[in-house]
Amino acid sequence: MRQALFRRLLGPKVETEEIDPHTVQGGLLKSEEALVDGAAQTRIEQFTAGRVCSRIALGRLGVAATTPVLRGEDRAPIWPPGFIGSISHTDTWCAAVVARTEDIRSLGIDLESSTPLKEALLKRVCTPKERDWLHQLPAPGVTGKILFSAKEAVYKCQYPLSNQFLGFHAVEVELGEDSFQAVFQQEAAGFQPGDVVSGRYLVEEGLVATACELPR
Ligand SMILES: CC(C)(COP(=O)(O)OP(=O)(O)OC[C@H]1O[C@@H](n2cnc3c(N)ncnc32)[C@H](O)[C@@H]1OP(=O)(O)O)[C@@H](O)C(=O)NCCC(=O)NCCS
Repeated sequence: MRQALFRRLLGPKVETEEIDPHTVQGGLLKSEEALVDGAAQTRIEQFTAGRVCSRIALGRLGVAATTPVLRGEDRAPIWPPGFIGSISHTDTWCAAVVARTEDIRSLGIDLESSTPLKEALLKRVCTPKERDWLHQLPAPGVTGKILFSAKEAVYKCQYPLSNQFLGFHAVEVELGEDSFQAVFQQEAAGFQPGDVVSGRYLVEEGLVATACELPR
């Protein structure tokens, strides 16, 4: 059994829950079922795992188990009033993290397989400065995957505040040993060039996990 990842990456005000999407106990609420009507089995499994994890984590913050986590037209989850969160899934693992909005402004998490990022994607995802740095490393592909994942986590974290789509070059990521800093390269509602979102990451048992939280 895999050790939980996100408890180690986020602070004490954040509730986390993780699960293998193939072994989910429980299911979707009626209003959530409509959101994956006609979807492929894998998608239904992963969506269900995300909602089940969200409900368990929200339950620890006192939210009733009958409260759905719906989805906006932009595909972002709609959290119950007073709460914020983030969801990520792969074929083998799924996680949801939640917090009270009085404690945390926003959260973003991402899971990826720890296979190397393909060379073609490196160019799409990484800025010239990031690429120069990566190409000095012995394994640029795997580190590139961490950068990619960090950008996705930052995207999910900034979205509830900006309501804005951002391309991969909108932030430039600097990696530390187990942490990262994403520096905004452009303006987005609520963010200026030079603003920093800090996060943490780990690579374990075939997965890259990245997470960031914006404190109050
Ligand atoms: C939205 C996106 C980040 C999802 O990431 P992914 O690796 O494909 O998939 P994950 O399993 O990690 O995450 C999917 C979950 O993200 C959440 N999500 C989707 N859109 C979102 C948004 N706009 N804001 C916050 N969360 C969002 C949903 O909960 C979704 O799961 P669900 O549909 O089951 O509820 C990605 O598809 C995307 O569009 N990326 C491009 C933008 C980007 O990353 N820019 C980086 C620079 S800031």
